[in-house]
Amino acid sequence: MTPDLMEEGAKRREKILTKVESGKTESGGREAGFSRLATPGEVDLTHGRILYLEDVSVSFDGFKAINKLNLDIAPGELRCIIGPNGAGKTTMMDIITGKTRPDEGTVFFGSTIDLLRYKEAEIAQLGIGRKFQKPTVFEHLSVFENLELALKTDKGVKRSMLFKLDSAQGDRLADILHTIHLADSVSRLAGTLSHGQKQWLEIGMLLMQDPKLLLLDEPVAGMTDEETARTAELFLSLKGKHSLMVVEHDMSFIRTISDIVTVLCDGSVLAQGTLDQVQSDERVIEVYLGR
Ligand SMILES: Nc1ncnc2c1ncn2[C@@H]1O[C@H](COP(=O)(O)OP(=O)(O)OP(=O)(O)O)[C@@H](O)[C@H]1O
Ligand SMILES: [Mg+2]
Repeated sequence: MTPDLMEEGAKRREKILTKVESGKTESGGREAGFSRLATPGEVDLTHGRILYLEDVSVSFDGFKAINKLNLDIAPGELRCIIGPNGAGKTTMMDIITGKTRPDEGTVFFGSTIDLLRYKEAEIAQLGIGRKFQKPTVFEHLSVFENLELALKTDKGVKRSMLFKLDSAQGDRLADILHTIHLADSVSRLAGTLSHGQKQWLEIGMLLMQDPKLLLLDEPVAGMTDEETARTAELFLSLKGKHSLMVVEHDMSFIRTISDIVTVLCDGSVLAQGTLDQVQSDERVIEVYLGR
């Protein structure tokens, strides 16, 4: 990396930290995009952001799980989210994917797509893939069939049975098999895979839909050290091609993959910066790391 780029990176981080203090996001919001014409199916990245959450709040029975949350991420970024249990990390993903509706605030995909106007299935179609903690592969189907099936989720049973991969999809499937380290297990039944391999298969199923943004909730929970290390490699290889938001409690995993880390606490951003910066932040130590 050139000294210029390093300097730019350092400035960007500094700016992010200052913005966190003031409760605003780094890009300063999406207002500048308001007058732009939206191209259907295209995510407007003109302002260097793929996801914006602004002043988002949600309460459950009077308890504010998300509280004036401001956060944005850049295209191709691998953003790590850490924070204590109950901080609102999963709820934030529920809001982005349309599973939970916020009481207040705005959530935009690029500068022009208002995610709050879409249903959960439509948000997935727009290019936001989500991985829950528990793997949800089809155990009685082969690795290949699971990946193939990922392309037909929007079709009825009959049409699914007649579905055939075209050559571009076949090539993508082959690429993904390598990416997820399952090229040698194409015809194995998913039920016979290890926990880690099932997680990779599910990530592969998400990748078949070529998502622009991937949300991954505790992806290495329950994995062996070796599987965790390979997952870190996998995520680093996805960075740049996709934008990723990764929630994890495993700090050594976060150390391997992270660039900017956001610390959530009580439903809003407590700190943001490199892992070293947030780990030396007194407030973060008090609420999370020092426990
Ligand atoms: N649908 C719901 N109904 C009621 N309360 C909820 C609901 N979803 C989340 N909560 C509450 O909101 C708070 C935030 O929960 P959330 O699951 O987002 O935390 P988290 O940061 O993902 O925690 P963890 O690290 O344990 O996964 C918790 O107190 C939780 O009990
Ligand atoms: Mg959670």
